[in-house]
Amino acid sequence: MQMNMGYTYTALWVLLLTKLLVAVSQSQGLPKVPAVIVFGDSSVDSGNNNKIATVLKSNFSPYGRDFDGGRPTGRFGNGRVPPDFISEAMGPKPNVPAYLDPMYTIEDFATGVCFASAGTGYDNKTASVLNVMPLWKEVEYYKEYQARLRAYLGVEKANEIIREAMYLVSLGTNDFLENYYVFPAGRRSQFTVAQYEDFLVGIAENFIRELYALGARKISLTGLVPIGCLPLERLVNIFGHHGCNQEYNNVALSFNKKLDNMVCRLNRELTQITLFTTKAYEIVNDIIKNPSKYGFEVVEKACCSTGTFEMSYLCSDKNPLTCTDASKYVFWDAFHPTEKTNRIVTDYILRKMAETLR
Ligand SMILES: *[C@@H]1O[C@H](CO)[C@@H](O)[C@H](O)[C@H]1NC(C)=O
Repeated sequence: MQMNMGYTYTALWVLLLTKLLVAVSQSQGLPKVPAVIVFGDSSVDSGNNNKIATVLKSNFSPYGRDFDGGRPTGRFGNGRVPPDFISEAMGPKPNVPAYLDPMYTIEDFATGVCFASAGTGYDNKTASVLNVMPLWKEVEYYKEYQARLRAYLGVEKANEIIREAMYLVSLGTNDFLENYYVFPAGRRSQFTVAQYEDFLVGIAENFIRELYALGARKISLTGLVPIGCLPLERLVNIFGHHGCNQEYNNVALSFNKKLDNMVCRLNRELTQITLFTTKAYEIVNDIIKNPSKYGFEVVEKACCSTGTFEMSYLCSDKNPLTCTDASKYVFWDAFHPTEKTNRIVTDYILRKMAETLR
């Protein structure tokens, strides 16, 4: 009896210690950062386009239907976007506010801020298609933010936040789908697709160098996901029987490889940088190929309206066809994932980040 009790106690202690060790190592996998700072397009915009003279907006329902209180914020989805989940896991707050949103002040932005603009790309010409913020303009606002932060917190504290923050960069899709493949007389007459990839990666490199010169150290680059499988691209893939557009997916893969090479090179050259790509392609591709594995029922069509072409103002609250449970859908509108997809993708990204940042 006594022996058994002793054995049981020992086993319980071992179990408890193991659990504690696992918990400690899990929480140590991801460093805490004082702020999450975001650049990019609609995949990460949390409402900057609300304040821009463009038709590309989403600050009306049913967008934001599943956001905190059912609020349409200008995020392109039914709920939160990846930077929100990343900020919740590593940063001080669960959502990243848009820099142009007048509801927030520098006090809010000190713990995380988003400069992204839906519809933009690496290429200036992409931003001009729908009159949104080009990447250089996002950087201008970031510089203004730095000045405001220093005025608010003092130079030393502000510089610490700038240095320790996690920077998220997510764009590139629109350069191909809203620009290159849409206007035969534009970039397509100047560049082959391989040359255009090189052109974009060159802009990405200059952008990273500029962020580094401005004090950024931890930078995550989201490459392209399988852009040929977005519902809108399936719709127009008439000769491919509305399957994924393989050419576009191949472009995404080849662009990602070039991005990876550039990242490798900059990591060697810029001694204090921790730069990495998130490999979001892999997880999104797996979700699209095996939707039921993740609890999804629909992948070809989006939740909003007919689910084939609607986004922004065409994704209307009046439409009776909009699905009632977005968590069964991989895509929310013809171009953007649901909150559930964003959460799964972010969990995957966070695991990769934990490996890189350890
Ligand atoms: C984009 O436009 C800005 C502002 O006019 C300019 O400074 C920058 O060089 C342009 N970028 C490219 C790659 O042409």
